[in-house]
Amino acid sequence: MRNRSAVFYRDFSQVPPTIVRGQGVYLEDDTGRRYLDASASAGVVGIGHGRTEIAQALAEAGVTVTFVYAATFTHPWQERLAQAVLGMAPANMSGVYFVSGGSEANESAWKLARQYFVERGLPQKYKAIARWQSYHGVTLGTLSLSGRTSWRQIYAPLLLPVTHITPPYEYRCAYCSKQGGCTLQCADDLEKAILLEGPDTVAAFFAEPVGGTTATGLTPHPDYYRRVREICDRYDVLFVADEVLCGYGRTGLPFAIGAWSVEPDIIALGKALGGGYAPLAAMVVSEKIRAVFADGGRRFVHGLTYSGTPSSCFAGLKVFEIMTREGLFHRPADIGALLMSKLKHLAARHEAIGEIRGRGLLIGVEFVADRRTREPFPAEFGFAARLAKAMRERNVLIAAGVPLSNFGKNGDHIQISPPFVISEAEVAHVVDALDDTLTEVVKQAPS
Ligand SMILES: Cc1ncc(COP(=O)(O)O)c(C=O)c1O
Repeated sequence: MRNRSAVFYRDFSQVPPTIVRGQGVYLEDDTGRRYLDASASAGVVGIGHGRTEIAQALAEAGVTVTFVYAATFTHPWQERLAQAVLGMAPANMSGVYFVSGGSEANESAWKLARQYFVERGLPQKYKAIARWQSYHGVTLGTLSLSGRTSWRQIYAPLLLPVTHITPPYEYRCAYCSKQGGCTLQCADDLEKAILLEGPDTVAAFFAEPVGGTTATGLTPHPDYYRRVREICDRYDVLFVADEVLCGYGRTGLPFAIGAWSVEPDIIALGKALGGGYAPLAAMVVSEKIRAVFADGGRRFVHGLTYSGTPSSCFAGLKVFEIMTREGLFHRPADIGALLMSKLKHLAARHEAIGEIRGRGLLIGVEFVADRRTREPFPAEFGFAARLAKAMRERNVLIAAGVPLSNFGKNGDHIQISPPFVISEAEVAHVVDALDDTLTEVVKQAPS
């Protein structure tokens, strides 16, 4: 009777393969099958799989300090990792609060924004504004922030009220796609939303500097975040940059927002920070916020048992050392440019490719049934899911995005976000596999 797994899987429509080994960009299952992990396992594995030096160092370190509760103690690895992160962060940043995952980082950011205004004597400022086609996490707070229709619907009765504004999605922009370019009206929507909500009630605006899994690769106009910053400053609203996916080297910069030369008030990090070697994420906090807490000797009324766990910070430090030693905070810029140019060549031959966008190794490819009208494939056909499945049959892993157009009803895209160590030959292999797979899936598509 009990020959089934004891694990409550995420998706009961299939039994996931058992991975027994990972090395570089490859994962190997218990039948010996090898997959090229061009998704970096949800964008986590920046430095690649199977770095034994981390496990070896961790084994030694585990003996010296096993666990420290963050409310009572600190420890050298947390201190050193915080210094390392701050050393690369925008100049206004001055403190790092470690947590275990990206949802925790964003949830902490909203709560910190709230308490910041309470401490300043503005307790009526608590609301958050975010964007559609965005993702900030799965907890009720962060799902409320997320503009991912397909994941929100089932939990809608439980979600907190958050105003969502139009994202900088130029390919399907209702404002400017017919006007020959971006007018920044989507940024100005933030001002409208703040005014409608009442500026004295709004605490924070959340945005992924480069779009993640809900609309991979959305890269706003060069002036977009400057405009966002101005609007936030005008109404005393904090700007939270969610860099859980796009940060820590993925776009070819330590912090993706650096490409816009804008200083956010809080930055959420995750994924590549621990690189898969530990559950590690962080909230990087600006001096403006830190000063309100530090000068008043205040306590942030928030805390997670595993905040700043020694083994996680230790792994994070090793990941940082490897990334620095091997130039991995910047490598995605060059290798990403190669991937982008190969994909653009592919687009010349595949009419189903509507848009290719992104930065570094965070690239989204959107598919359309008709390139001229930009009409998506019918939702029932499940283009992106089929493509991801067919790629997997060719032993290449990419991620299928969620429906992103027509109010979350249809619209297909995939995310290609390999580890930062991917070689040129491996990039070519991914694109060749996509070439064949696209031909196969387009043939099956309804005409
Ligand atoms: C931009 C962004 N924010 C937040 C999260 C949530 O992070 P986690 O799944 O570690 O809680 C993710 C995860 O994919 C993400 O891509």
